Amino acid sequence: MNFAIPATLTTVAYIGATILFILSLGGLSNPETSRRGNWFGIIGMTIAILATVFGMRGSQTGDVQIVALHGLPWIVGAMAVGGTIGLILAKKVKMTQMPELVAIMHSLVGLAACTIGFASFIDTTPLDVPLKDLAASENIHLIEIYVGILIGAVTFSGSVIAFGKLSGRIGGKPVILPGRNLINLLGLAVVIYYGYVFVAAGGLHEQAPTVQILIPLIVMTAISLLFGIHMVMAIGGADMPVVVSMLNSYSGWAAAATGFMLSNDLLIVVGALVGSSGAILSYIMCRAMNRKFLAVISGGFGTGGGAAAKKKDDGEPQGEVTPISATDTAELLKEAKSVIIVPGYGMAVAQAQHTVYEITKVLREQGKNVRFGIHPVAGRMPGHMNVLLAEAKVPYDIVMEMDELNGDFPETDVSMVIGANDIVNPAAQEDPTSPIAGMPVLEVWKAKTSIVMKRSMASGYAGVDNPLFYKENNRMLFGDAKKMLDEVLVALKA
Ligand code: TAP
Repeated sequence: MNFAIPATLTTVAYIGATILFILSLGGLSNPETSRRGNWFGIIGMTIAILATVFGMRGSQTGDVQIVALHGLPWIVGAMAVGGTIGLILAKKVKMTQMPELVAIMHSLVGLAACTIGFASFIDTTPLDVPLKDLAASENIHLIEIYVGILIGAVTFSGSVIAFGKLSGRIGGKPVILPGRNLINLLGLAVVIYYGYVFVAAGGLHEQAPTVQILIPLIVMTAISLLFGIHMVMAIGGADMPVVVSMLNSYSGWAAAATGFMLSNDLLIVVGALVGSSGAILSYIMCRAMNRKFLAVISGGFGTGGGAAAKKKDDGEPQGEVTPISATDTAELLKEAKSVIIVPGYGMAVAQAQHTVYEITKVLREQGKNVRFGIHPVAGRMPGHMNVLLAEAKVPYDIVMEMDELNGDFPETDVSMVIGANDIVNPAAQEDPTSPIAGMPVLEVWKAKTSIVMKRSMASGYAGVDNPLFYKENNRMLFGDAKKMLDEVLVALKA
């Protein structure tokens, strides 16, 4: 097959794909435009793959084919296998399993960066540069390989551990090794030393390198893998969302590093886009959880989450709770003029979003002011609640961010908490010793009455007791959120 796209057209295709990826990211930042954003991403990726597979690029010695077309059956085969696995996973995965799927996908980007790094080093094809620039170019290429494998290995092992923690295969408690900072520093020193040895040994090879030449790379990869494991194992409970977005960012930088190794401009740009948007998301998450961004970046993740539920000094729970029935909940809602609904992880588990919207419609038809309050880390992934509410077709204009709504609770008759716990925990404001102290929360207890819908008195993701349950104006509607809301809906319509 002789078909190939000329170098100039490849460049134009890359620029077009880059613009589409930027539009895609812009679109994904808002539920109303997110579908369009997805399409921009799909079209951009299709153009990028076609331009890369069939494209030529400009070189010192004339245009060269980026991927030799005799390799086409391999590429098509790999895409068919990968695409089929992706399609099956996407169809099978439950909304509540999304974060772990995202984590394992990040690990694949890291793995790709590692394997491409080793392949680039072992590859004996001479660099396409004039002879006078060869030594400098080789050194730069060796640094690209070393750094690329380093970022890739940390991303890979960190993401695998994050997957294990998010899916419950590994315990959520932080594992803190004695002298962990010293261990990290030692590891860093060895990595820098071997980096020097690796580049100083110099030269890419005309023959495949021996194992001895590979030793610096192998040692660095092993240390980076251990560092990734160590870093994520040290993070507990409520800090995991930051880890997911940090690994998202790392996977972007791993892709950018791969772009440098392969001299592929598009991969560099796209990697940088993912890396920086992941970093911005991490910053937003840190603010939402009152964690220090710099401490997160340097691996000094908080160990606050995962603490046991707090009891009073005598070991008894903090007080009495007042249960309420579905019928009485409906009565309270009928009497209310304003209602704020706060959904959390439990709504996702119960798949109660459609019933929530049915109830909202009935209440709005009765002229009540019904709004939704969304905490930035509600559920188990960024935007989790927005996705569920959009799926149930809840109008976007009644879905508000925490900051937009928090001041309105004192003028609200009923706040309805559906399967949320940590994000409405007053201990974050009232108890400076609480593991979630300082985390901004939705102040549902300031409404005239708050109703918490959950199955038991169990704690949420952070593993801390919730004083909201014992407040005088709070009622507990115990049971599966979907089942209880179905009953509330029947009673409301009666
Ligand atoms: P959580 O604090 O985890 O509380 C969810 C509550 O839902 C649980 O207490 C549980 O109580 C209840 N529940 C579970 N299944 C239910 C069902 N079928 N029906 C009714 N209730 C049910 O959730 P949240 O308030 O949304 O807070 C999110 C937490 O997850 C934060 O700590 C956050 O840091 C963490 N986190 C967030 C993310 C992102 S990015 N959003 C990622 C990882 C972790 P019962 O068992 O008693 O029913």
